[in-house]
Amino acid sequence: MRIGIFDSGIGGLTVHRELARALPGHDLIYLGDTARVPYGTRSPETVIRYSFAVASYLAESGAEAVVIACNTATTHALPALEAAGHAAGIKVFGVVEPGVDAAVAAHHTGAIAVLGTEGTIRGQAYQKALAKRLPAASVAAVPCPLLVPLAEEGWLTGEVPTAVAERYLGHLRGTIDTAILGCTHYPLFKPVIAEVLPGVTLVDSAESTAHAVRDALGPGTGLGGQRFVVTDHIDRFQRVGEQFLGARPDPVDWVDVGPPRGVFALD
Ligand code: DGL
Repeated sequence: MRIGIFDSGIGGLTVHRELARALPGHDLIYLGDTARVPYGTRSPETVIRYSFAVASYLAESGAEAVVIACNTATTHALPALEAAGHAAGIKVFGVVEPGVDAAVAAHHTGAIAVLGTEGTIRGQAYQKALAKRLPAASVAAVPCPLLVPLAEEGWLTGEVPTAVAERYLGHLRGTIDTAILGCTHYPLFKPVIAEVLPGVTLVDSAESTAHAVRDALGPGTGLGGQRFVVTDHIDRFQRVGEQFLGARPDPVDWVDVGPPRGVFALD
């Protein structure tokens, strides 16, 4: 099977890495919408339009399943993409439910923080999913927008990221036992966040998403080809992407995804 994976840019490579591990026998095509990143500060309507355009490209490229490797796009666009995909037999997966599953398994006291982009926190997908699964939970939802550009600059440790994490998260110290890293870029800051929030279990949805997709599709029996496409600079994607993927993404092609159409047309 060919599985399409998309993110606003580079961050979803953390999810791609886990998918490649968990589903080695499927072909993966990753689309980074680097021309339009960030999604995290945009309106739900814009994120839905971008997500449908990207999904249209993936469907035309033969994707039989689509993984939304972006928390903001999952928050705003998953229900509509799922409904559109369903009509054409294309399964659509997001990262929020698997992240919540992991938090439900990890927490001890129900005191849980959700860290994400402004759009993810405002869209409340994590808060709603947690309220359903753990009605007694006390949830602190905290946007941490500056961590995205810091990750893309490769500033993952040291004075600056520590000061930023302290400013966003210091007030949570001693009040939570689990934090969901609800943004593709935040797993790269695990050491810094762990220093600011000692003793807190940090839940990363990349691995739980890959397991959820494997449970639904199986590990596959093919050779597991990989291809990457981006909507802007190839060089930057390869250079910065290496720290998200753990290896240089290759091969990478440029594409113009075009408008939403076909299965994923918007009214
Ligand atoms: N990929 C986005 C997310 O997980 C973070 C980057 C952006 O704002 O586009 O929410």
